[in-house]
Amino acid sequence: MEPNENGSGFYVIMHPASSNKFSGRFAIFTDKAYIETKRKISELFKLRQIMKILCVGDIVGSPGRRIFKTAVEKLRREIGLAAVIVNAENAAGGRGVTGAIAKELFDSGADVITLGDHVWDQRETASLLELETRILRPANLPPACPGRGWGVFKTDLGEIIVMALVGRTFMNPSDCPFRKADELLNGPIPRNGIVICDFHAEATSEKIYMGWHLDGRVSAVFGTHTHVQTSDAKVLPEGTGYITDLGMTGPIDSVIGREIAPVRHRFTTGMPSQFDVAKGPAVLEGCIFDIDRTTRKTLSAKAVRISET
Ligand SMILES: [Fe+2]
Ligand SMILES: [Fe+2]
Repeated sequence: MEPNENGSGFYVIMHPASSNKFSGRFAIFTDKAYIETKRKISELFKLRQIMKILCVGDIVGSPGRRIFKTAVEKLRREIGLAAVIVNAENAAGGRGVTGAIAKELFDSGADVITLGDHVWDQRETASLLELETRILRPANLPPACPGRGWGVFKTDLGEIIVMALVGRTFMNPSDCPFRKADELLNGPIPRNGIVICDFHAEATSEKIYMGWHLDGRVSAVFGTHTHVQTSDAKVLPEGTGYITDLGMTGPIDSVIGREIAPVRHRFTTGMPSQFDVAKGPAVLEGCIFDIDRTTRKTLSAKAVRISET
């Protein structure tokens, strides 16, 4: 880990982008071609040609909301984000999202909120989704469900389209996410848009295949749900930015955001336990995609981790 420039106590780990041209992930800082790409991105960014989009992994409870606010303020100030997309399916005490908590996240810098399998954990979510178009539930839930699974959102650098899908392997039943993605991309989603997809799924294989399924048809695909960040942020051959899982934004000393003791009780006795959100320092995990506004391709995908410790 390297401390950031102003030494504010945060640590940022950014895994260098790897693209179809660069197979290495950790030893390519000296690679001439990589340096050239970095220079090109920097020039395009100055020309406002690059859209820098931060995607944030599942927010868990108040520790997650606290680090989200601080870290997003810092990243917006220091690197200039065009948009922030956050999965908030565990933001309300670990279970779903409420109207008040969604407002808190929007006030803290979120532009779009996505949800996952915990979408209906709070009773008010159904009516909230009808009113608040910036919150998305998975698009491949039964069509009669309230809310929407994709939307067009304005940023300072133009529109983006966000699409949310949920997986089927080791998950509750839902419609086929691959067919739903095809249906949306071949149907109502505007052509030539910058499309970013949150694929909320358990199995790495299902998420990895979604990356290949959508390569060249959307600008970026990121996975959520497992709360563990993967080290495979990259650009696929046809220009789609990809990471298997963004990770978690929540308490560090925990079991994917929950207190350790009840989980210990559950695993060692097989007895039911109540899983409350853990306390203590938090971490934000996510990925930044640098997307060329003209080609709609991702030029760089970097995993981000910002910790309070
Ligand atoms: Fe989930
Ligand atoms: Fe989650």
